[in-house]
Amino acid sequence: MIYSTLTAEEAAALIKDGDVVGIGGFSSVGTAKAVPAALAKRAEMLHANGESFQVGLITGGSTGDQIDGALSRAKAVKFRTPFQSHKDMRNAINAGEVHYFDMHLSHVAQDLRYGFLGNIDVALIEAADITDDGEIVLTTSVGITPTIAKSANKIIIELNTHHPASILGMHDLYEPANPPYRREIPIYTSSDRIGTATLKVDKSKVLGVVLTDMPDGIAAFTPVDAVTAKIGQNVADFLLSELKIGRIPKEFLPLQSGVGNIANAVLGSLGECQDIPAFTMFTEVIQNSVISLMEKGRISFASGSSLTLSDEVLQTVYNDYSFYGPKLMLRPQEITNHPELSRRLGVIAINTALEADIFGNVNSTNVLGQKMMNGLGGSADFARNAYLSIFTCPSVAKKGVISAIVPMVSHLDSSEHSVKILVTEQGVADLRAKSPLQKAQTIIENCVHPEYKELLWDYLKIQMGKCHTPMALTKALQMHIAFEETGDMRNAKF
Ligand code: COA
Repeated sequence: MIYSTLTAEEAAALIKDGDVVGIGGFSSVGTAKAVPAALAKRAEMLHANGESFQVGLITGGSTGDQIDGALSRAKAVKFRTPFQSHKDMRNAINAGEVHYFDMHLSHVAQDLRYGFLGNIDVALIEAADITDDGEIVLTTSVGITPTIAKSANKIIIELNTHHPASILGMHDLYEPANPPYRREIPIYTSSDRIGTATLKVDKSKVLGVVLTDMPDGIAAFTPVDAVTAKIGQNVADFLLSELKIGRIPKEFLPLQSGVGNIANAVLGSLGECQDIPAFTMFTEVIQNSVISLMEKGRISFASGSSLTLSDEVLQTVYNDYSFYGPKLMLRPQEITNHPELSRRLGVIAINTALEADIFGNVNSTNVLGQKMMNGLGGSADFARNAYLSIFTCPSVAKKGVISAIVPMVSHLDSSEHSVKILVTEQGVADLRAKSPLQKAQTIIENCVHPEYKELLWDYLKIQMGKCHTPMALTKALQMHIAFEETGDMRNAKF
């Protein structure tokens, strides 16, 4: 091999207190794992000796236990961006131990290039293979890897033999130029290839290669239950009616599907609907349900930034790579989530809300407006620019003590101007071409759980007919307050 090898501990020792570490990969897969875990141990050791050690952590998206878990438990993270979904990191953020800033994922790479995020001292990149001339074949994701490889002062590679070198060709690496030299991105269908299959790096920056054999460690998704199956069915029925009316062309349009259990289940149910033609995906995260729909011939191609598959499903892909390989493409998140491409391709975006309000504003991130769940991710990249932007959620959370539909969201991620369709297991609210009052009436009637309907009608009536947006300033957070004070939103009174 062209580069020298290092142990994970030797590599971790090259990272200094105060460094900013950029980790390649995306959505808990395809990230370096051994060096961050060794770094966490080193931090614990230094802390035990009374020495300070913290790094800034910039990634493409979420990471697994070896990174967000281990480093947050070791109190080794000073700041974190742009997305996480690990309970220990979430707790550290919510305890005020880690400064977290949540970003649109399409912005991260360009904000790095623009210098908005400062410098990256060390990039950690996972490779399935390293070519004779030192180029890297990435593994199960791309994220912001091309940008951190270019902008970091130093690079450490983890060569992970868990992934076969034969995945060469699954990646399409392309970085737009900065303004004023940026040109159009020449992708016209989900499967268009515009970049390189391998990552070229400045060899003089490579400190060494750590050899590993580690699975991504993604657990199985929660199986479809009655609620998520009904949401999926409602989305499918809605899309089918749009197809019949001719508002979706007969060839259908590429789908984007969000992260998490609900999105995985909804896509699964939607894909089973045989009246919807086989479709392609132009998405950010490729989750388990995509693979089973490919096997059934329901999805013909998927472009994304990560193969966020449980270990078992990833093995299915590797075992039958001649079938799945040509149907999969991994790109930088800057490309998968690019506004230009969502608009040009006419992406149908389906994302998950934590809560939505009766006017169609969506909170995807902050529980009760205060506690960070995961982050915005790419949801708003797609929601703002999609052909059709759909948000889904179960109508209630925590066994019914929380209504997902509230008078006013406690935090705003996607505004009513981006949210076109809201779907719960109760039904579908089509918000297109409706005033705030009409949106509220449609959402309460179609999406709200029966136990909260009367309450929300009571709220709406306070200001109905008195103003353009019938919101009552002193009562808009009453349901959240009732939850905080009594543990049940149903105790709110209007
Ligand atoms: N208030 C409080 N808690 C709520 C809630 C609400 N209104 N709605 C849901 N929750 C809780 C659930 O009870 C669950 O808690 P638990 O982990 O203690 O069981 C948790 O939120 C996650 O919900 P779950 O039902 O497992 O959904 P999920 O795994 O599908 O995740 C999001 C849902 C919204 C958190 C997830 O989709 C997300 O992070 N979205 C933002 C990023 C995004 O959309 N990216 C798309 C990229 S293209």
